[in-house]
Amino acid sequence: MIPTEKQAIEILKKYIKGKANLEHNLIVGYGMKGISKFLGKKEDEQNRFFVIGTLHDIDLEKYNGNIKNHCVVGEEILNKENIDKEIIRTIKTHNEILGIKKEKEEDHLLFSIDGLSGIIRAYVLMRPDRDITQAKLKSIKKKLKDKGFAANVSREEIYYAPDLLKIERDKFIEAVLEEVKNNMDFRE
Ligand SMILES: [Fe+2]
Ligand SMILES: [Fe+2]
Repeated sequence: MIPTEKQAIEILKKYIKGKANLEHNLIVGYGMKGISKFLGKKEDEQNRFFVIGTLHDIDLEKYNGNIKNHCVVGEEILNKENIDKEIIRTIKTHNEILGIKKEKEEDHLLFSIDGLSGIIRAYVLMRPDRDITQAKLKSIKKKLKDKGFAANVSREEIYYAPDLLKIERDKFIEAVLEEVKNNMDFRE
């Protein structure tokens, strides 16, 4: 089945308890929704993109640190939750160690938005007010250029999907950022 947004968040919260992990999954969920809107997808597709992002790291607190198990444990969880097989396949493609070829638009986008989410979250947490509504495209771009900022986040990964799909990098970042801004609050 393909859960609604609300159901997807409920499923996420069953398996993810840490604040940072919850926020990470949700940023990717809203980011995926944002880019699907930008691409002119219909509402059911927007919902599907949201679900992919929101559930992509469902096993973050369950795979016991061995990266080879990441998304394999996730697949077990998502099967138990009766999640659509095609959504599970897309989710599995984001762990490159598993060697599953990225084929569809959403496979590529998930990979890059996963990376971009790291920059967005690090940026918001760095602000004393933690107010994401103050995050501008310009500020995110500046941080992307600063290699010392969130240095573990691969810039190559972030630009991979927009470049491949011929989406302007700025438009890509903006579409992701806007949807996160409209739905998330990091101040609490
Ligand atoms: Fe992951
Ligand atoms: Fe992730």
